[in-house]
Amino acid sequence: MKIKTLILAAGQGTRMRSKLPKVLHKIADRALLHHVYDTSTQLENNEIFVIYGHGGELVKNQLAQLNVTWIEQAQQLGTGHAVKQAEKHINDDDIVLVLYGDVPLLKKDTIATLLANVSDQSLALLTVTLANPTGYGRIVRDQQHRIIKIVEQKDANEAEQLITEVNTGILATQGGKLKNWIARLGNNNAQKEYYLTDIIEMAVHDGLTVISNQPHNEDEVLGVNNRQQLAHLERVFQLEQANRLMELGVTLRDPARLDVRGQFSQLGQDIEIDVNVIFEGTNQIANNVKIGANCLIKNSVIAENVEILPNSIIEDATVGAGCRVGPFARLRPQAELAENVHIGNFVEIKKSSVGVGSKINHLSYIGDSIVGSGVNIGAGTITCNYDGVNKFQTVIEDGAFIGSDTQLIAPVTVGKNATIGAGSTITKDTPAEQLTLSRPKQISLPGWQRPVKK
Ligand code: UD1
Ligand code: CA
Repeated sequence: MKIKTLILAAGQGTRMRSKLPKVLHKIADRALLHHVYDTSTQLENNEIFVIYGHGGELVKNQLAQLNVTWIEQAQQLGTGHAVKQAEKHINDDDIVLVLYGDVPLLKKDTIATLLANVSDQSLALLTVTLANPTGYGRIVRDQQHRIIKIVEQKDANEAEQLITEVNTGILATQGGKLKNWIARLGNNNAQKEYYLTDIIEMAVHDGLTVISNQPHNEDEVLGVNNRQQLAHLERVFQLEQANRLMELGVTLRDPARLDVRGQFSQLGQDIEIDVNVIFEGTNQIANNVKIGANCLIKNSVIAENVEILPNSIIEDATVGAGCRVGPFARLRPQAELAENVHIGNFVEIKKSSVGVGSKINHLSYIGDSIVGSGVNIGAGTITCNYDGVNKFQTVIEDGAFIGSDTQLIAPVTVGKNATIGAGSTITKDTPAEQLTLSRPKQISLPGWQRPVKK
């Protein structure tokens, strides 16, 4: 049996007060619709359709990588009308699963339970019991507790409004039956819309049983209609990830102050993460890594026993085992540190490799460089890699010692074990093993006097 998943995503999202279509708003840097897609792809034998409308071109463009069939609903005449747009893609013996593009945290196993409830004799409906059911469609049951229909808030009478079991909107049923019911939907209701929910009563009339299941918790079925709800679900999602990290052996000083916007391609044990750390993109973090407060780590590889001190920013970089980075360090794209490198405060490294055991401890910019092993770069050293038009390379060979406040005007090579005197401006290659300095001789003027105020 084949599953056809219809993700309804044509709604306007007026309450977001945004130029962006609602389903493109993000949780953990991923569009709401993308989250729903990700969960759908975990189902086997499933083909995914997205019903789009408002701002549809933008949705399609931004999520062009999704393996889905895009179906336009030019006018939003209701959830039933939305499903009807997919009619020609549905075969009688398919199982049709309806999801919402703005309900991002639904879990795969909740869907699996729902799907298991579908048969020739039954329709499956995901319901939830809410302390405050206002706004939702109510689940109406008969005296035998069988579901007989759904009544929308705006159409509900006083007794129905007291019902706290509500429709999540998520359901699954057989394709042939669904098409038959959809064809018969009317819009004679408070909102003049074609309600998908009206198929419940039709199903019961046709002798089917409506089997309901509920999610593990309410957050799974919460939709995003405004920015408050978006922020709430962001926190729910982040806490789920924090819990997963702790289950894998990571110590979090405060699970509420961690943000993972992406994934880990590898995550070791006994990693310690202080507060307000943000991970973006795909990161690889090995055993015993310590990450201080307020760090941002993006698309990077951090080897074991690395210590990253507070307020460091690491992006598209590789940090070898045993390195110490920060506080206040910035590793930019293609910074590649070998083992046991020390990068200290206010040091920026870009497109450069730094060899084993080298130290760049204070206030330096190293760009487009190859730094050997055992190199010591003094405070305030700058590789002048850019003439305003082109970039040039600096090579600092093994064992070199660069005195403080040196400018290395690239292209330039500092030889092996060379020493550069502090304050030098180096414009030519410097020989190995020698001291090179470019500095006027120091002079003192005997008898010189300070000017006095006239
Ligand atoms: C719907 C249900 C309600 C349920 C609630 C759960 C109906 C009639 N009502 O109400 O029982 O409690 O969801 O949140 O189904 N959409 C389209 N095209 C349309 C209309 C909607 O694609 O023409 C999409 C929206 O983008 C959204 C979803 O369908 O993802 C639900 O639409 P929404 O307007 O939020 O439905 P509700 O009125 O809240
Ligand atoms: Ca809604």
